[in-house]
Amino acid sequence: MKHTDIKELFTSSAKYLNECVTVCGWVRTWRDSKAVSFIELNDGTCLKNLQLVIDKNAVDEAQTKPALATGTALCVKGSFIPSERNGFELLVKNIEILGECPTDYPLQKKHHTLDFLRTIPHLRPRTRYFEAVFAVRNELSYAIHKYFHEHGYKYMHTPILTGSDCEGAGEMFRVTTQPWNAKYKSEGEYYADDFFGAKASLTVSGQLEGEVAAMGLGKIYTFGPTFRAEHSNTPRHAAEFWHIEPEICFCDLHEIIDIAEDFIKSIIGDVLKNCPDELAFFDERAEKGLIDKLKTVVSHDFAKVTYTEAVDILLKSGKTFNYPVEWGCDLQTEHEKYLTEEHFKKPVFVTDYPAAIKSFYMKLNADGKTVAATDLLVPGVGEIIGCSEREADLEKLKAAMTKRNMPLEAYTDYLDTRKFGSVPHSGFGLGLERILMYVTGVANIRDVLLYPRTVGSL
Ligand code: 4AD
Ligand code: MG
Repeated sequence: MKHTDIKELFTSSAKYLNECVTVCGWVRTWRDSKAVSFIELNDGTCLKNLQLVIDKNAVDEAQTKPALATGTALCVKGSFIPSERNGFELLVKNIEILGECPTDYPLQKKHHTLDFLRTIPHLRPRTRYFEAVFAVRNELSYAIHKYFHEHGYKYMHTPILTGSDCEGAGEMFRVTTQPWNAKYKSEGEYYADDFFGAKASLTVSGQLEGEVAAMGLGKIYTFGPTFRAEHSNTPRHAAEFWHIEPEICFCDLHEIIDIAEDFIKSIIGDVLKNCPDELAFFDERAEKGLIDKLKTVVSHDFAKVTYTEAVDILLKSGKTFNYPVEWGCDLQTEHEKYLTEEHFKKPVFVTDYPAAIKSFYMKLNADGKTVAATDLLVPGVGEIIGCSEREADLEKLKAAMTKRNMPLEAYTDYLDTRKFGSVPHSGFGLGLERILMYVTGVANIRDVLLYPRTVGSL
């Protein structure tokens, strides 16, 4: 269907001024009076609507009437002219109805609550709110690929079906093609008979395979869906989320922290530059002061604090937390909130966590108690990055796995990376939805995914 995008009309308006153009889109709102009708048309290419002006003497009423219904799909021809109120508008010559929209279309009002919109995920992309969410999601994704591409990383596609558990928490979705059958005497027998001849799951992280690739290619990143079966029914946990995981050889914790900071600032900078309308919208509708916050983030250093110092700060805060703080405890949301929102008031890297609360693959520090790991915490969202230098020493790695009762025989490929030409290397994982929440101010992860998957909701 030959037509011009509404975004193109607004960005190259001089080229189209007073020309006859064809646009397609959906009716967002309309007004009708005796002599003229007005329609706000949106085609999804930009947040702005194009105002259609229909002179009832010039356009056949049979064409106009069905067009005056919210949600109707139209193909309209007319002249693109300047307008005092809207900048530009389309003086309509001809309307073709592509798809009528009956009055039980649920999006009749101008503003709907996010709770209501969650009940109609298939129609949400037709609202201004979700058009803005998905525009920023798109821009962030592009900025991420651009950053790594420009810095010489290779994009790796790591498997989604896996036989190993990267995070060791056991919260994985099982993948099977066979029903349970009482003839199986043990789990082992049952899995042996399954599609892969072994227990298979959806991956929680592409890291282990990413390390394998980096060990030959030097610098790689993955960007794909990962899955967590934890029963965390919170505004920031999804069972399926998009995960960005760079892995870099010849790189220690301090260097990866600098890379992570540069990367976060770069992708936020791209969104600031390329999504001004969307950010202005979120500044008004989701988080007051959002644009100033993002500008401050890209132009200031992130804070850095060790876990041990963070515990001290929390103990001296004078606050009563639901989860008591002591050295060795995992930091809970309330602790992360205090650190980022009240103490540092900006993104903070918490480094050198106790080994016992972190994953097996993290490099043990010289103190024998802590690991060379960091989480990047940000106000409002909490952890957006989990990062570490990896344990490069074969014997220390085996010891860490044995301590966690991990079956070494299931990780022989991984252990070979330490056996054959092991090198210091580091990597991190960024949740796309988490950074998207931070950049838009959208408070619930369910509102930055097309079809959010959470406990009890598919
Ligand atoms: O801290 P995590 O579990 O670290 C890893 O998976 C490492 N293998 C990463 C690496 O070093 N390559 O997860 C990394 C990030 C978190 O900081 C968070 O942003 C996101 O993934 N994340 C989730 N996002 C949404 N819903 C969930 N359930 C998430 N779990 C983790
Ligand atoms: Mg983590």
